[in-house]
Amino acid sequence: MQFRQKNQELNFDQYPTFEKDIDPKQRAWIEVKGKALETNVRQLRSKLRKNCQFMAVVKADGYGHDAKVVSEYAIKGGASQLGVATLKEGIKLRSNGIKQPILILGNLYTKKDLIISFKNDLMPTISSIRECLICNNIGKHFGLKFSLHLKVDTGMSRLGFEINRFVEQFEKIKSFENISIEGIYSHLSSADEDNALDPKSITQLQRLRFNALLKQINLERNHQTKIHLANSAGMLLNKDFHFHMVRVGLSMYGYSPLDKIDKNLLLQPALFLKVKVAFIRTIDPCVGVSYGGKFVTSRKTKLAVLSIGYADGVPKNLSGKINVIHNNKLYPQVGSITMDQMMVDITGSNEIKIGSTMILLGSDGDKTISPVDWAKQSNTIPWEILCSFKNRLPRVQVD
Ligand SMILES: Cc1ncc(COP(=O)(O)O)c(C=O)c1O
Repeated sequence: MQFRQKNQELNFDQYPTFEKDIDPKQRAWIEVKGKALETNVRQLRSKLRKNCQFMAVVKADGYGHDAKVVSEYAIKGGASQLGVATLKEGIKLRSNGIKQPILILGNLYTKKDLIISFKNDLMPTISSIRECLICNNIGKHFGLKFSLHLKVDTGMSRLGFEINRFVEQFEKIKSFENISIEGIYSHLSSADEDNALDPKSITQLQRLRFNALLKQINLERNHQTKIHLANSAGMLLNKDFHFHMVRVGLSMYGYSPLDKIDKNLLLQPALFLKVKVAFIRTIDPCVGVSYGGKFVTSRKTKLAVLSIGYADGVPKNLSGKINVIHNNKLYPQVGSITMDQMMVDITGSNEIKIGSTMILLGSDGDKTISPVDWAKQSNTIPWEILCSFKNRLPRVQVD
């Protein structure tokens, strides 16, 4: 295509033709504060039992923050291991130069996947003798030991060996010469519930079952095997849940899964969700806004149209329930959230202009909106809010 250059100042060459060259802050984006992650890890580690290691759980692209950035800062903060959910997530971290031990928390069950895991120095979670045998054969084939973690089900009923049969099965597993049991673990199902410290709670029951099992298999002689049980909530409950390692996700990102939390623990959210104002209009009273016209103005209303919608991962069921921050002031979102845009009532503001930046999640001055608030309003959990953000939102690292 030939363009006639009429104006010398307008030089086409300086404008992008590749997607990667578009300004990441052109529309809506996620800012990730690496330093906040690092500080959170340091703070959380200071609460751990002596010599207890910290596994940073960076699955689902680091809970939507960008797994590479999260891993790097978590390691700076003292995380010694990383946890991912899938083979691909693990391989991606390896190709980004991450050298720390990586545990795949999901289940790999084919020989092919287990070989790929072995080749990339990723430790699989093993929940059956069958998978153990496959790993042992892979190790034998290469004349090496295949490092893995065994998982036991203490009450989650998801992955893991059946607890009642584990002692007997463990005797057999110990005879496999080409595997190295780097860890034995279980997962808590309800540690974030209010009754978790109640001796009769499922959380305490899981801990007792796990302890009883560990006694029976008598691991004392084998120091390299790491025992781990706690997620964020378990870790924050008390040191009885710490064992040799904790696997921490949510609280490392700056949010507590518990209502009551140690007042000295000041977690900082690492994620800011920001958006540009794409358009401003003023409409009359009694006019419907957005699809279905469910929100009707009661007065002359100034609207800012923000370039973000449910295709970016903002739940549609938050329509009309959230606020957006600009310059330490809150503005209510109105009308249905649409696929790519949403409207905000900015009546009375003269400072918000087309191109202004507004904050959907994060803080400004004394105003803060967190995924925990969104989760309460949309009847879900903060984990789901964080994992819902799509790749259409560029992740921008700030520090
Ligand atoms: C096996 C396992 N361990 C640890 C975690 C981290 O949990 P949290 O984000 O609550 O700290 C998860 C997350 O779902 C998990 O599946």
